[in-house]
Amino acid sequence: MSLSPAWLDELRARTLLSALIGKTTKLQRAGREWKACCPFHNEKTPSFTINDEKGFYHCFGCGAHGDAIRWMTDHQGLPFIDAVKELAQSAGLEVPAQDPRAREKAERASTLHDVMGDAEAFFVEELGKAEGASARAYLKKRGITEAQARTFRIGLAPDSRTRLRSALSKWGDEKLIECGLLIQPEEAKREPYDRFRGRLMIPIRDARGRTIAFGGRILGEGEPKYLNSPETVLFDKGRTLFNLDRAAPASRKADRVIVVEGYMDVIALSGAGIDEAVAPLGTALTEGQLERLWRLDPQPILCFDGDSAGQKAAVRAIGRALPFLTPGRTLRFVTLPQGQDPDDLIRSGGRVAMEALLAEPEPLVERLWRHEQAALPLDTPEARAGLKQRLAEHARAIADKDVSHAYLSEFRQRADALFAPPRREWQPRPPQARPARGNGRGGWPPVPSQPLAGTRAVNQSGVGPLEARALLIGLARQPAVIAAHAEHLSHLHFADPALDRVRMALVEATWRGETLEGDGISTILRRVGAIELLSKQGRANGLAFSFQRGDADPERARRDLGEVIDVMVRRSELDARIAEATARLGNATDDGAWEEQLHLIRERQETERRLSELRELTGDAEL
Ligand code: UTP
Ligand code: MN
Repeated sequence: MSLSPAWLDELRARTLLSALIGKTTKLQRAGREWKACCPFHNEKTPSFTINDEKGFYHCFGCGAHGDAIRWMTDHQGLPFIDAVKELAQSAGLEVPAQDPRAREKAERASTLHDVMGDAEAFFVEELGKAEGASARAYLKKRGITEAQARTFRIGLAPDSRTRLRSALSKWGDEKLIECGLLIQPEEAKREPYDRFRGRLMIPIRDARGRTIAFGGRILGEGEPKYLNSPETVLFDKGRTLFNLDRAAPASRKADRVIVVEGYMDVIALSGAGIDEAVAPLGTALTEGQLERLWRLDPQPILCFDGDSAGQKAAVRAIGRALPFLTPGRTLRFVTLPQGQDPDDLIRSGGRVAMEALLAEPEPLVERLWRHEQAALPLDTPEARAGLKQRLAEHARAIADKDVSHAYLSEFRQRADALFAPPRREWQPRPPQARPARGNGRGGWPPVPSQPLAGTRAVNQSGVGPLEARALLIGLARQPAVIAAHAEHLSHLHFADPALDRVRMALVEATWRGETLEGDGISTILRRVGAIELLSKQGRANGLAFSFQRGDADPERARRDLGEVIDVMVRRSELDARIAEATARLGNATDDGAWEEQLHLIRERQETERRLSELRELTGDAEL
């Protein structure tokens, strides 16, 4: 007599899984489930969950999954029959007499994994047959090489309702139905038939590389384009990522993980040498999938089509991710050219084209801000308040307190900058018109061509106090820079009024022809009461510009200071243009305006990046 499925079910039902696992692993309650640091792999934050109701455990990190029996064999290392005996003893069940060898073998052989493995081999073989010629031609037309097809073990489901069923008949209909390979018609008397017919078969594997489902693509045009396996004991769609088994090791080497929308994108990327890409299975990213991605890399790069569907998907992913952001976990975004997926892009521009986009992913905060401020017109106070409210709600969705606060203040600053009223104060002008001065070196950053669209537009919110103070200290140390950059300095509004007065005093002094070298600068600073204001800076720990340090090489300090001024002017000009573009975007869904805005935002990011490059780590330097 062997162990019947019913008896095994009874055994599982009588075993409280959390109590069993809790004997050797420390558990925490998490709602209706239990959590623990995974006993199958090394980790610091718990990703191992136990569901007593369903009777199984699952690790989001390494994919370990099983029931009470599986726990005893995989974790305790017991042979199947011993595992069953031990559980039965605790549960007060009598083990029916049996031939242990035969039983063990049958149990092992009948695992659904083996069924799926056989199905995969069947499909691969079909693709190689004479009847597979047109499918092979299709692959070739799409630029998928034989090597790629082998790597992904792509196969072909023959156009027949019976071929798979008879090829895999040794497993019996029940198992084949359970794996989703056969469909049982409603009327029970009718014969089950092959689910996948006349489709290119793409195996979907779990984290351990075992095939758990298939995506079947129609050859050429037709509906549905993909037919996927139904959810089964093996296949939990929301927890699976296509190509995760290959992307995990690759991501450690590449130091990044990329998420694309389709199977074919993953396959094309791999063909181009980018193996660290995964795809969800035709649905929005789930929490379970995000969890897995974050285990591979703290800032996965999500690629979406530039069309509106793709952009909606990006925003949906942000919504899912927000609650889970931490100081070390975020998402980054790449927007593909309209109507192109990574597969198209690679075919037209090769790996280079893809890498160019991947090199400059957009931070989550930027992507969300861009979405919200473009979502609705902002032409009334109500609408502007509405934007602030939506942004605040997003920030509040973040569970981590620090990150949530950082988002709140970032959004507040951005919104204030966007809505700041134009400055009305009188601004002294130079006695005679002077030609706008560049940075003298040409190249980057491009010098604004006009008088910066007037100070009104430029002075959106102004340079923040930290940066302003740094600049003034630099100018006090390197007064030659003031005259050389007077024009730009005259446009660079500081948000803090006291600091801004110092800036203007310095600019005006050069216009009046006062000498700033030697003692000149301190006389002026004393006159406007700036000595004390600036000495507040004191010490700096952390990042600082070279010109903030007393011991900096003077030439380097002057050069950096000049560049920082130019970059900040450029940045405020971009802020003004972004605000204008946003206003213009208003209710119109004009792609041109959107593109322009995107372009401006990228350029603005570039200025921030340059500024951070110019900062360096200082020890405990006295300023
Ligand atoms: P796409 O239509 O972008 O697929 O759908 P693709 O991978 O680029 O395919 P090709 O290049 O047209 O052959 C993205 C993903 O959505 C799911 C699949 O996972 C697909 O890879 N999908 C799409 C379905 O599950 N069913 C469908 O009918 C269509
Ligand atoms: Mn495609």
